[in-house]
Amino acid sequence: MPNLLFLGSNSAGIRAFATARRLGHRSTLVVPLLPGSDPFMLGGGWSVEELRRLPDGPDEVVEAPGLDDDLYQLAADLHARTPFDAVLTTADEAAEYANEAALRLGLPANDRTAMHTACFKHLCRARLDEAGLPNARTAVARTRSAVPQVAAGIGFPCVVKPARSSGKEGVAILAGPSDALGYAGGSDGPAGPWLIEEYLNGELYSAEVLCLDGTAHLLGVTHRRRDALNPLLEAAAVFPAELDADQHAAVRLFVTELFGALRLSVGVFHVEYIHTARGPILVEVNARMMGGSAPLSFLRVTGTDPYELLIDALLSPASVRLPDVATGGSVAFVLGARRAGSAPADAEQGLARLAGRFDFLHQRHSIRNGEPIRGMVSNVTAVGGYCNYAESSAAAFAAYLEFTRGAEQVLGMPLVSP
Ligand SMILES: Nc1ncnc2c1ncn2[C@@H]1O[C@H](COP(=O)(O)OP(=O)(O)OP(=O)(O)O)[C@@H](O)[C@H]1O
Ligand SMILES: [Mg+2]
Repeated sequence: MPNLLFLGSNSAGIRAFATARRLGHRSTLVVPLLPGSDPFMLGGGWSVEELRRLPDGPDEVVEAPGLDDDLYQLAADLHARTPFDAVLTTADEAAEYANEAALRLGLPANDRTAMHTACFKHLCRARLDEAGLPNARTAVARTRSAVPQVAAGIGFPCVVKPARSSGKEGVAILAGPSDALGYAGGSDGPAGPWLIEEYLNGELYSAEVLCLDGTAHLLGVTHRRRDALNPLLEAAAVFPAELDADQHAAVRLFVTELFGALRLSVGVFHVEYIHTARGPILVEVNARMMGGSAPLSFLRVTGTDPYELLIDALLSPASVRLPDVATGGSVAFVLGARRAGSAPADAEQGLARLAGRFDFLHQRHSIRNGEPIRGMVSNVTAVGGYCNYAESSAAAFAAYLEFTRGAEQVLGMPLVSP
């Protein structure tokens, strides 16, 4: 029986354990015991006891005493007991650790430098420049106080972001010098270095990519529709994106060149790009597969379980079947308040009545009658996540908009939407 070691998981990735079981594999989940929030269980917030009780969860949950050598030693000890056939993760923060553990155990993995590059935005930019590929103009500020000067060199508007951010933490659009000064004086988000990038105009997409034996295959493209007022907020991920033949050709070339430059060889990756007037330009490589409800959209539309692709890419690359053409379309979207407010006394009943008119693949919200609703400033401050399916991407998008307009009525407040 193939034996899988998962280092951490994101909350959606909990479904990967059901996939492993369906395929007849054994799975062990390692979660490091870290003070405060646990980056290996991003968005999950589960205790080890809850993880052990999950009906379709891993066969075994093991706590690691820490990161780095503690983690690798634990992986080696577990491997000595029952040898693993693959090490994997769905958690962004754990991607490099899982790759390193696989390398140390002699299991399928990416080159160490390639993985490290993919995990850091400034290293990706440098790699693209070295390879002579289309890229955003970027400069690095080593300290927060250097941001205004570096930003002035790039020109306004520009985007500032920590080299290793996720969920938009610490990402900001700087419209002019005063924004840059404000950012330099702040303290939100992860530590630096900070990238300052030219502001790319165009629509935001993600390419879902499967790497097998060093060859990158484009699994599909998602149109990431952003909020009409704040382009840093992603409101709705439409899969598959409605692209014309030229756009398709451009994204295929982009993915081939990008993965050639990065030298990633195995796994499933979630690459964000903006389709500018000069073609697709990278926003960020995520060294892990799609997150949130996207795997549900992908499964419903392609009939292929993306967790199975991830597992098979590592265990049996020769037998991987690429997904068939899409049937219908799906939107994975958030419920997010444009401004903080409070929920009406009957908000929960109103939302339930509204949702009853739709056939969601997934729905979850944290709104409580009469309680405060926080404003959405990043992915992690959304107050709900939903996923739908319809006969086409356009129909799924129309249904999404109808639900969102209805939710605005129920809640009496404007919601994040394109
Ligand atoms: N150079 C750029 N020009 C225009 N917009 C950008 C640029 N870089 C990033 N953005 C916008 O900011 C958003 C967040 O950037 P990025 O993806 O790098 O941060 P993140 O913290 O990794 O976010 P997430 O994990 O949610 O994807 C992007 O989705 C995009 O909408
Ligand atoms: Mg991003």
